[in-house]
Amino acid sequence: MASSVEVGVMFLLIFTLIMISAKAERNRSTSTSNLISLGSSLTPNVHNLTASSWLSSSGRFAFGFYQQGNGFAVGVQLLTPPQNTVVWTANRDDPPVSSNSTLTLTRDGLLLRTEGRQGIPITYGPSSLSDSSTGAAAMLDSGNFVLYNGSRVVIWESFGFPTDTILGGQDMKYDMSLVSSASVSDHSSGRFSLQMLNGDLVGYPPNSTDYYCYWTSPSSVNQLSLNISGFLILYDQTLNLANGSYHRPQDNQTTLYRATLDYDGNFRLYLHNFLTTGSAARVVVIWSALQDPCDAKGICGFNSYCQAAKASQDVECKCYPGFVYNDASDKSLGCYQTFTQNGCTGNEELWRQYKVEALDNMWWQNHAYSVTDLNKENCSNSCLEDCNCWAVLYTDADCRKYNLPLLYGKRSSNILSRGFIKVPLHFPHPSDLIIKNDSLILILAISLGSIAFLCFVFAISSFTIYMHRVRRYKSLMKHSNLTLAEQEYFTLKSFSYSELERATDGFKEEIGRGTFGAVYIGTLSGSGKKIVAVKRLEKVVEGVREFKAEITTIGRTHHRNLVQLLGFCIEGSRKLLVYEYMSNGSLADLLFKAKGVHSSWKERVGLVFDVAKGVLYLHDECSVHIIHSNLKPQNILLDHTRTAKISDFGLARLVPNETKINSTEGGGGGVQQMRSGYSAPEWQKNALISVKADIYSFGIVLLEIVCCRRNIEVNVSTPDEIVLLSWVSKCFAAGEIGKLVEEDENVDLKTLERMIKVGLWCVQHDPALRPFMKNVILMLEGTMDIPVPPCPELPSLV
Ligand SMILES: *[C@@H]1O[C@H](CO)[C@@H](O)[C@H](O)[C@H]1NC(C)=O
Ligand SMILES: *[C@@H]1O[C@H](CO)[C@@H](O)[C@H](O)[C@H]1NC(C)=O
Ligand SMILES: *[C@@H]1O[C@H](CO)[C@@H](O)[C@H](O)[C@H]1NC(C)=O
Ligand SMILES: *[C@@H]1O[C@H](CO)[C@@H](O)[C@H](O)[C@H]1NC(C)=O
Ligand SMILES: *[C@@H]1O[C@H](CO)[C@@H](O)[C@H](O)[C@H]1NC(C)=O
Ligand SMILES: *[C@@H]1O[C@H](CO)[C@@H](O)[C@H](O)[C@H]1NC(C)=O
Ligand SMILES: *[C@@H]1O[C@H](CO)[C@@H](O)[C@H](O)[C@H]1NC(C)=O
Ligand SMILES: *[C@@H]1O[C@H](CO)[C@@H](O)[C@H](O)[C@H]1NC(C)=O
Ligand SMILES: *[C@@H]1O[C@H](CO)[C@@H](O)[C@H](O)[C@H]1NC(C)=O
Repeated sequence: MASSVEVGVMFLLIFTLIMISAKAERNRSTSTSNLISLGSSLTPNVHNLTASSWLSSSGRFAFGFYQQGNGFAVGVQLLTPPQNTVVWTANRDDPPVSSNSTLTLTRDGLLLRTEGRQGIPITYGPSSLSDSSTGAAAMLDSGNFVLYNGSRVVIWESFGFPTDTILGGQDMKYDMSLVSSASVSDHSSGRFSLQMLNGDLVGYPPNSTDYYCYWTSPSSVNQLSLNISGFLILYDQTLNLANGSYHRPQDNQTTLYRATLDYDGNFRLYLHNFLTTGSAARVVVIWSALQDPCDAKGICGFNSYCQAAKASQDVECKCYPGFVYNDASDKSLGCYQTFTQNGCTGNEELWRQYKVEALDNMWWQNHAYSVTDLNKENCSNSCLEDCNCWAVLYTDADCRKYNLPLLYGKRSSNILSRGFIKVPLHFPHPSDLIIKNDSLILILAISLGSIAFLCFVFAISSFTIYMHRVRRYKSLMKHSNLTLAEQEYFTLKSFSYSELERATDGFKEEIGRGTFGAVYIGTLSGSGKKIVAVKRLEKVVEGVREFKAEITTIGRTHHRNLVQLLGFCIEGSRKLLVYEYMSNGSLADLLFKAKGVHSSWKERVGLVFDVAKGVLYLHDECSVHIIHSNLKPQNILLDHTRTAKISDFGLARLVPNETKINSTEGGGGGVQQMRSGYSAPEWQKNALISVKADIYSFGIVLLEIVCCRRNIEVNVSTPDEIVLLSWVSKCFAAGEIGKLVEEDENVDLKTLERMIKVGLWCVQHDPALRPFMKNVILMLEGTMDIPVPPCPELPSLV
């Protein structure tokens, strides 16, 4: 009985399936959009593209299996014979599958069946398929592979999950990133990433947790788009990064563009020209982010350096003297030291048994642990005398000492600094290591001898050509305005005290006074007559070395929402810092001084984002991790366009410990016993201070900006309103947030509610509850949902 029912059901099912596929087949022949119906499947086939792929109607793009190593991967290829270009890969880090696999379009999306594993989903993501079942799929002519629901609404698209490439018509949105492929032929995740963080598009080396970035977009950005005419555009400021307008297609040619983060870390815009379907395609690189491929930090591993072949994008990774490759078959994996170090402890004679080997035109990009003024001779000697030092870099009276490992080394003829590497006095020459017996020496001697003769002949003929080129090169150098490599890396200018005394007219006009000392306005002589703010530091650390190391870190920060440090002066105990001048005063002036004359709501929302992005940069960005630890409206300054910029960052570590907490500024209103209204509760408890302490201060500043009043304000109509935090909590709990901005017009209540919720999360007593800055920005933007914040514990009054 049971079995005959089953057979009946099976029969019905099969019949229905046949009917559906017959109908779909009819549609396919008439429709131009090549709709893929449910039940369609693919199997890997090296020789038959139509069996292993679904083609777009133009025949340029194929979705399906492609060969990867000894097996197959699933993805989208741009058919660019003879070698196709993979532009998207599903589950790219899964191992390749065997030729026995099948890919089937089902109601639950696209499923991959392979030996031992049933139904691995290929299509996945936030627009989850659980609530809408798949009706059909299509490989579109744009290169986008899409799934439709029953009523032809796109429910999933490969454009939403870029791997290393975006195509014409594709956008890279705020929370997306591109990750390079492992190599030209292996499309699993490689070493570099391009991320949109903090309003900048940033290229990161391997293991981005070390936050050395190597490329930053020229303007802030919340979306990167490539349109079909080959314009690579940064929004929201609509900056054209690159465009294909100089490469107009000829008649009857199709042109497709793609922007790819290549395996070598360079982001390039490519153009593909097709003459007619199936014929060979022409490919042109229109633009690349890095001119010098060695600038992709991490292209060579630890303890090795990168040298670019002339006029090409090929690079070579080389070991320093005393080091050999970790893996001779893959030189990009770095090098290790061939001798054992005589540790720092114990016999001083042991670690004196070293010499230095010089490397001209050398640069290391990791932080020097010491920067001092020394001449070249004393610089290399100072390394020999320091058992922690393994390398020094000498530039223009600056001597930088480095420990191992040496990161991101680069050698290039336009770098003027000279490196010295420490090696043992009796370090065997590399060739001594290879030659182990006499016969080898004989063979080598003969072959070297004949090579030497050939070289001699070659050298003579080359010499005349060379001399000619040198002359031409020299005259070129004279006429071009060269930007020197070290200017790029180390832009801080060292001023003399008298220079700054002259610039400030004898420290005449004080424009502010902060925790670290008074600030004076000044004008630098020389070209431009630049107006600057000179800060005379009081009570800072004694050591010149620590001071220089610290300000080097500050000098490396470049962000639109941070006040830029331009230079410094150290003469004896006098220490001064020179900053760019901010003509619109501080945020405190804007919010609190002009009672009644409010800054507009729209401007204040912008200011909140400015401050948030500045803090995010300090916490998370390139090269530096800085806890500001003294964030307040008094040290947030406004430039001529009223963009908020954070100042005084990075200075906390220059000040001896006790001055860190005792600031009572900002409380105001006669409540002197209270700790600074901006510092997190953990400051009082001597607990560990983390970036979360800044989040607390940011929360208070945010609420002040939103409500346009001080944290503590005594001239208010009811006692409830005195402490801003309790007033905000009360209004929020009562659902009356409109009361907080009563005098304002044009307040957008949705935005206001988001701001208040974020502010209340930031000021939570438990640092673990406070969000990280990245999430703060996502929440402020409305990209991330904000749970209802718990009521914050209020600061104890008196
Ligand atoms: C055939 O294609 C047309 C237009 O593309 C569509 O409206 C129709 O629903 C399709 N029919 C089937 C059976 O898929
Ligand atoms: C390739 O596969 C398709 C579909 O499976 C089939 O119709 C076609 O005949 C095959 N072509 C060759 C050359 O094998
Ligand atoms: C495919 O399956 C067949 C039979 O199950 C098996 O003999 C063959 O080895 C498999 N091929 C691969 C590449 O795994
Ligand atoms: C397809 O998705 C749209 C938008 O989500 C929805 O309105 C429609 O009902 C869905 N159709 C089916 C058949 O699920
Ligand atoms: C990156 O991190 C992984 C795991 O932590 C490590 O195995 C790998 O060597 C790192 N890569 C580099 C280039 O440092
Ligand atoms: C691409 O962008 C450029 C610059 O914004 C614009 O001029 C052009 O019309 C755009 N092309 C298309 C097809 O949208
Ligand atoms: C296109 O790029 C070129 C440089 O490659 C630039 O000179 C030109 O202004 C750009 N055009 C547009 C419309 O951005
Ligand atoms: C372009 O194609 C059309 C029709 O396909 C043809 O008549 C014309 O001559 C072609 N033009 C060129 C420049 O090849
Ligand atoms: C270098 O060392 C010599 C003696 O060792 C000393 O006289 C000289 O002042 C030093 N130069 C610098 C710039 O420190």
